[in-house]
Amino acid sequence: MFEVLTPLAPDPILGLSVAYNEDSHPQKIDLGVGVYKNEQGHTPILRAVAKAQQKLLATEKSKTYISPQGNQGYIDGMLRLLLSDHSKALLDNRVAAVQAPGGCGALRILAELIVRANKDAKVWVSDPTWANHIPLIGSAGLSIETYPYFDKNTASINFDAMMQTLRQCNKGDVVLLHGCCHNPTGADLTNSQWDHILQVAKEREFVPFLDVAYLGFGDGLDEDAYGIRLLTDNLPEVLIAASCSKNFGLYRERVGLAAIVTKDSANSQVVQGQIQSVARGIYSMPPSYGGALVDLILNDEQLRHEWVSEVDEMRNRMKSLRSMLVDQLAVNGADRDFSFINRQKGMFSYLCITPEQVRDIRTKHSVYFVESSRVNIAGINHNNVEALAKALVDVIQ
Ligand SMILES: Cc1ncc(COP(=O)(O)O)c(C=O)c1O
Repeated sequence: MFEVLTPLAPDPILGLSVAYNEDSHPQKIDLGVGVYKNEQGHTPILRAVAKAQQKLLATEKSKTYISPQGNQGYIDGMLRLLLSDHSKALLDNRVAAVQAPGGCGALRILAELIVRANKDAKVWVSDPTWANHIPLIGSAGLSIETYPYFDKNTASINFDAMMQTLRQCNKGDVVLLHGCCHNPTGADLTNSQWDHILQVAKEREFVPFLDVAYLGFGDGLDEDAYGIRLLTDNLPEVLIAASCSKNFGLYRERVGLAAIVTKDSANSQVVQGQIQSVARGIYSMPPSYGGALVDLILNDEQLRHEWVSEVDEMRNRMKSLRSMLVDQLAVNGADRDFSFINRQKGMFSYLCITPEQVRDIRTKHSVYFVESSRVNIAGINHNNVEALAKALVDVIQ
């Protein structure tokens, strides 16, 4: 039966990793795959995670299945982290939530839940958006449209065009927004832009779908939650897909959360049953390990404190790498202003150079990143920043 299948084009990011590994250049630079790296180029196990692992090893008594919704301590801890202790939606029991296998798992089951509620719902995503949004949401059968977001010519958000499109959304449409640290551009909405989005969401009655994969990597854990809290405090319905891959460094453990703010607590119970049934039909129940670690961290004062300081460290390191790159570009004679890199947030930046220049920098200087010009800021370090800046200046002049 499978002979009818045709080969697919290689995934651009994974293809880039293969090419990078095969490159023998001694000073090659990898700014492709979106994982945090430290100064030594490693993706470390966080100290709080290592301690939680010891604790879990000493206390876990069984490997029997966990409950269908996942680890309740994890779910509650994550909901408070995202929505805050004072969240009206939480206090009113209006939030249904399940632990999901990664942010991807959360995005997918929420897309399936939307299909159950309204298979004709249109999902609006930013142009550009994270490449995996389209397959994850589209494969559930939903139709996807884009709203303008980033203007490469000005290296900033084209908010007027974005709002113009959102003002045309229909009641029941779903609008996917990056909670913070927009992937791929690093261009984030300001608090006042979130305020405008709330107004339009009220007017048009669309449902925001927040993807939160980098909480804490922008300006801080609470600061980055501004949009999430604003919308969940003021709208009847909001969907949230959160990931612990990056800010807990738990990538391979697949830890995510799918949460749905509903109109009232009765509806929340119905939605809780439905989302669990969606998950049951796909993977039955989530893996336990990563969620158990996050539960231990978020619900223990000392471990939480240690984790928060590690998130601060990662964020501050990435901020300083941004300014180092901007300085090095100027020192090495870039004839363009790259200071927008300092204004972008999180792990990614769009350098706003052309695909030809991206190919040039790869072939001439062994610097690897995707053709959109998205770079993983965490792949920069004190040893490679000068070479990177010189290579960039070489290909853009
Ligand atoms: C914007 C965005 N959403 C969701 C995810 C999902 O992450 P994961 O499934 O690894 O938790 C990612 C990961 O790169 C992402 O960049």
